[in-house]
Amino acid sequence: MPSPFEAVKLTDRVYWVGAIDWEIRNFHGYATDRGTTYNAYLVLGEKNILVDTVKAPFHDELMARISSVVDPEKIDVLVSNHSEMDHTGCLPRVLRETRPERIIASAMGEKALRAHFTDLPEIEVAKDGGRIEIGDVHLTFLETRMLHWPDSTFSYLEEEKILFSQDAFGMHLASTERYDDEIDDGVLYYEAAKYYANILMPYSPLVAKLLAKVKEMSLPCDLIAPDHGPIWRSDFGRICEHYERWSAQPMTGKAVIVYDTMWHSTEAMAHSISDGLSAKGISVNVVPLQSATRADLATATLEAGALLVGTPTLNNEMFPTLADALVYLKGLKPRNLIGAAFGSYGWSGEGVKRANAALEAMGVELVHDGLKVQYVPEDDDLVACREFGGEIGDELAKRVAASEEATK
Ligand code: FEO
Repeated sequence: MPSPFEAVKLTDRVYWVGAIDWEIRNFHGYATDRGTTYNAYLVLGEKNILVDTVKAPFHDELMARISSVVDPEKIDVLVSNHSEMDHTGCLPRVLRETRPERIIASAMGEKALRAHFTDLPEIEVAKDGGRIEIGDVHLTFLETRMLHWPDSTFSYLEEEKILFSQDAFGMHLASTERYDDEIDDGVLYYEAAKYYANILMPYSPLVAKLLAKVKEMSLPCDLIAPDHGPIWRSDFGRICEHYERWSAQPMTGKAVIVYDTMWHSTEAMAHSISDGLSAKGISVNVVPLQSATRADLATATLEAGALLVGTPTLNNEMFPTLADALVYLKGLKPRNLIGAAFGSYGWSGEGVKRANAALEAMGVELVHDGLKVQYVPEDDDLVACREFGGEIGDELAKRVAASEEATK
């Protein structure tokens, strides 16, 4: 019987057998406006190998794609590069249905799989750097601990020159196209940046080390095959350069203004501050939390040099949406930022103080005590906001020039 889904042939013996999730819009708190894919790969040979599985509800799609090229019962080996459930949700079921003779994971992968699922069969542990013969092919395993889980691992298929990179180099982007060069560049690099900011940014120092290690190994590579989004086949240098820059997060002449508003007063302040920054040559990204998400904020912050937080005061506190967004951002450990807070208030006005504390707690260097306006800003208040933006803009331009001088 014809299969409702087909595998996509990548090389003579390697197929994409993943699933496309067109519907998902929230990936554990990360707004995924363009859906995602869960990539799994099938290597055919003397031994048939399945690299990773998919999220549980997509089991049938995975199995249908596998069935379009081989009877799933003929899978001999299952490799798990990462235990998070978007890649292992249907693993126990796949194991029951395919009964592979070998299951291979890293040491941390084995632990994590056993912590997720009971009654798993024996798991063969692949050492970091270990080269394992599987029938007529060889897989080399490279642990990439904390990128972004302790068990995260790359595996490299020597004969086909494919690096299976699990979450690294991935993005949440549902598409019928399987390759990077089939997707609009703006979308491709925006979604890659969004993924980096929301998943990998906290581990940037490790990303930098990993890139150096992979460069040193100089593995001949025809494809980089991540577990989400398109497969890279055209220009590895470009995405690696982006990863290098994102992991260094140098101070740039870009500012982010994130704000929320109750009666449009803090909003009006944000607009005038933006104008003041812009007049100093600073590129401004305004993130209004009533229509943007914390994931948008993280993405904007990845390439910024200044973070300005606008919050009304509500019941003696920062506005709750700002508290949410700043807790999320703190966990992502952004670096090399200056910042300041502002906001409208009625009678007590603690919002700005609370936002300052939140900025300091995430390592942002405050360059202003903060700007408050009571109730509704009048024209002279908005002029003060514009000047406030200008002051921060001057400071940022000075820092960027000093940083560029230092790296000459
Ligand atoms: Fe795509 Fe960390 O899972």
